[in-house]
Amino acid sequence: MAKVLVASKVIIWDECTMAHKRALEALDRTLKDLRNDSRCFGDAMILLSGDFRQTLPVIPKSTVADEINACLKSSNLWRYVKKLQLVTNMRVALVNDTSAEEFSKQLLLIGNGRVAVEESSGLIAFPSNFCNFVSSKDELINEVFPNIIANHKNKKWLSERAILAAKNKDVNDLNFVI
Ligand SMILES: *[C@@H]1O[C@H](CO)[C@@H](O)[C@H](O)[C@H]1NC(C)=O
Ligand SMILES: *[C@@H]1O[C@H](CO)[C@@H](O)[C@H](O)[C@H]1NC(C)=O
Repeated sequence: MAKVLVASKVIIWDECTMAHKRALEALDRTLKDLRNDSRCFGDAMILLSGDFRQTLPVIPKSTVADEINACLKSSNLWRYVKKLQLVTNMRVALVNDTSAEEFSKQLLLIGNGRVAVEESSGLIAFPSNFCNFVSSKDELINEVFPNIIANHKNKKWLSERAILAAKNKDVNDLNFVI
């Protein structure tokens, strides 16, 4: 692996927003050492890709401040990062799907913090045309996996559907019920 790191011209680090800043700093020191070059990352090019609207480093039992402190933007290496933006939604551009276009705009409004927050709860309300709403977990399961008894061995049917959740606990609970 050391030989590969010495020979590399570019190292691509995807979903970098979830990485701990210490991991990037360790890579910096390792490359300086292996490449015998005191310049940043031993003069290898590092391409970080990710979207800071998404998940930051997960630190068990931490506060928001701990997560922000662990984030790459809090690293002393961040000042050397040159920022480039990708602004074309390729799913919309390639498939020409107008509902996907509307959805991607709504997602950006939420991600950019432009949707009004209710004062009492601190929560946002989704626009009414954002998605299909259900009122219970059971209804969600029946919408996404209707008649699972007949379909559970059909790999194509299974590959076309999924329920995502933010926490492993909710995933396990849903899997157990399904
Ligand atoms: C590392 O670089 C220094 C300065 O360029 C040089 O003097 C030294 O011989 C190099 N060491 C190795 C192991 O290549
Ligand atoms: C997408 O749809 C628009 C309007 O229907 C059309 O003018 C355009 O050529 C389409 N683009 C692609 C890549 O299919």
